[in-house]
Amino acid sequence: MHRMDQTENVIEQYKDDKNLSIRSQLHAKYSTNKQGFHPWLFEKYRFSPGDRILELGCGNSAQWNNRISQLPKDCILVLSDFSDGMVKIVWDKYSSHKSILAQKIDIQNIPYPNECFDVIIANHMLYHVPDITKALSEIQRVLKSGGTFYAATNGNGGMRTFLRKAFQKIHPESDAFTKDLSFHLQNGESILSRYFDNVQKVDFEDSFSITNTHDLMDWLKSTVTMASYSEEDLSGLYEYFEGIRQKDGTINIPKETGMFIATKA
Ligand SMILES: C[S@@+](CC[C@H](N)C(=O)[O-])C[C@H]1O[C@@H](n2cnc3c(N)ncnc32)[C@H](O)[C@@H]1O
Repeated sequence: MHRMDQTENVIEQYKDDKNLSIRSQLHAKYSTNKQGFHPWLFEKYRFSPGDRILELGCGNSAQWNNRISQLPKDCILVLSDFSDGMVKIVWDKYSSHKSILAQKIDIQNIPYPNECFDVIIANHMLYHVPDITKALSEIQRVLKSGGTFYAATNGNGGMRTFLRKAFQKIHPESDAFTKDLSFHLQNGESILSRYFDNVQKVDFEDSFSITNTHDLMDWLKSTVTMASYSEEDLSGLYEYFEGIRQKDGTINIPKETGMFIATKA
């Protein structure tokens, strides 16, 4: 089984932003919540003038597209990821911005002194980290007193449950999507409460209504889980999803996503 927190899988998956972009396209095209996840996140973030902001595991930094101007005056933004490919993409995007730095950082070892940042963000990435205890201790260490940590993640139900059932229709013994994420909407509050003083969970209500089965297959093939499945498995899944689409006109898939807002006293 391809585990989501095995470093060699994660490095291969995110050597560039191809897989991430395929998955973002599915969300953009077929999400029933038309606000979109990134605009929703920015509604929740609180930035003040002069803030030092660190994002960990920023990927291709898509959440900042057309939103840098929303930052208050004199903020400094460090966009970081442990993938060279992602850091290069972000570097190229923001090389002309004096207050934005692209940096290679592994969340388990943050190269900054204690209490440096007012805001830290780690979206959809803590479940990829092998040593989450070290990662959260590092975030707690570099966050200023009074600072805020934002962590978006998925739930263990939603799309995972839907896909688990689909795989088991093809192969009753399939273990795809059976292993819980290590950091998810159901366990995040109790994990973060060990490091932060106040933790709040906020859900984002959403689902998919997919009208082209090939787009769903492209999404699946872009995930870590799919690496160990054969062409035969893939055509079995295609037939299964296409059957639903022909019967219902659309493939309805629930989503479970949201974020935690944690503060340090
Ligand atoms: C699912 S993507 C999320 C990207 C972005 N935060 C978003 O929400 O679109 C996960 C990202 O975390 C990065 N990542 C995984 N493990 C990491 C680690 N130990 N330290 C820093 N970044 C890591 C990957 O390279 C990838 O870019």
